[in-house]
Amino acid sequence: MGFDAIEIITTKRDRRELSTAQIDWVIDAYTRGGVADEQMSALAMAILLNGMNRREIADWTLAMIRSGERMDWSALDRPTADKHSTGGVGDKITLPLAPLVAACGAYVPQLSGRGLGHTGGTLDKLESIPGWRASLSNDEMLHVIRTAGAVVCAAGSGLAPADKKLYALRDVTGTVESIPLIASSIMSKKIAEGTGSLVLDVKVGSGAFMKNVDDARELAETMVALGGDAGVRTVALLTAMDRPLGRAVGNALEVAESVEVLAGGGPSDVVELTVRLAREMLEAAAVPGAKDPEQALKDGSAMDAWRRMIGAQGGDPDAPLPVAAETMDVVAPSSGVLRRLDALSVGVAAWRLGAGRERKEDAVSFGAGITLHAKPGDTVRAGQPLMTLHADEPGRFERALAVLEGGYEIGEVADPALFPLVIDRITEGDLARD
Ligand code: URA
Repeated sequence: MGFDAIEIITTKRDRRELSTAQIDWVIDAYTRGGVADEQMSALAMAILLNGMNRREIADWTLAMIRSGERMDWSALDRPTADKHSTGGVGDKITLPLAPLVAACGAYVPQLSGRGLGHTGGTLDKLESIPGWRASLSNDEMLHVIRTAGAVVCAAGSGLAPADKKLYALRDVTGTVESIPLIASSIMSKKIAEGTGSLVLDVKVGSGAFMKNVDDARELAETMVALGGDAGVRTVALLTAMDRPLGRAVGNALEVAESVEVLAGGGPSDVVELTVRLAREMLEAAAVPGAKDPEQALKDGSAMDAWRRMIGAQGGDPDAPLPVAAETMDVVAPSSGVLRRLDALSVGVAAWRLGAGRERKEDAVSFGAGITLHAKPGDTVRAGQPLMTLHADEPGRFERALAVLEGGYEIGEVADPALFPLVIDRITEGDLARD
């Protein structure tokens, strides 16, 4: 059935419900070029302002899935599990997690993205490994997953093309921050990717999309419901992003920290979250006789899976990682306890040092970023380095230092308002009880 884009825009502008047929038509027509960018922008703004109900969000998600291919892993002989993080500062968890879960008995087919703005992208981090390739054909993906148990690569252009076009449009029209549009964007790609189960890591705090727990819970509940409706067993954790995760922020620095975790060391928050998410993935995938993730970190099997995964995508796991040409220490101005270390300030500083990109076409500096020598709650002495900044050009330090000013505070005790690492867990069962 044919519709009129203006009628669909005015329906949402006037706070009325869009029908399934209207949603199917507008997504299909937009993907094919029959609805103009300015019309889709107006509709996205009407949705941002007036929302969509659960039925509309489910229809919108299905229409975006149908705009492209749906991958199928049924030829594999073990269950598939994936994780998606809504993004944060120092969030390198996918790197140790994918091979860890593979070593414990599930297959992990993970399509990831690049960073934009202050949050890093998994593909940018992995591309700091010499030789590693992000773009794979579907046959190559299957080969890597059979070889290593896990594959992390870029989504091909055939997967949810409607979302690709719409996300680029939202990025330049102030319509990113809509829970229905974020939830449908993320879940259309994850459902099209074909995973049997999914664990969502919804970050909360200054360094995340969702600044407060209520918004994060609403996003998590919307995504868990969408996953359940599509037959993908989905669980969400709300986790802290009011301070950076781990001690490394920046592409190659985060790869090095991930390798430490796979070698049985690494910062305690990164280890704790990696193990927790691995257990959630194995449970959601119902892997029979799964190995315990802590054991797989200790006995080297997770590291073996990492080396196979990197090697199968052309990377050399033993090659030295890129290092930035210049470093500068930021020292503690007084003695005491580090009360807070703001995730957004550290993320923007790392971005200004060259770790992130401003426009999609920009290149990132693999060696740039920040090494944190203290985390909230640690005791520090005046003059002790709090962090080391890494950049390719010394001219970048000044703007990074400017954003760090006010981004940390030394006092007597850690700020009691800091979130616990895992704030909440949301399952399909919780939604039914509401
Ligand atoms: N990530 C996505 O893939 N889509 C959004 O809308 C926001 C974050």
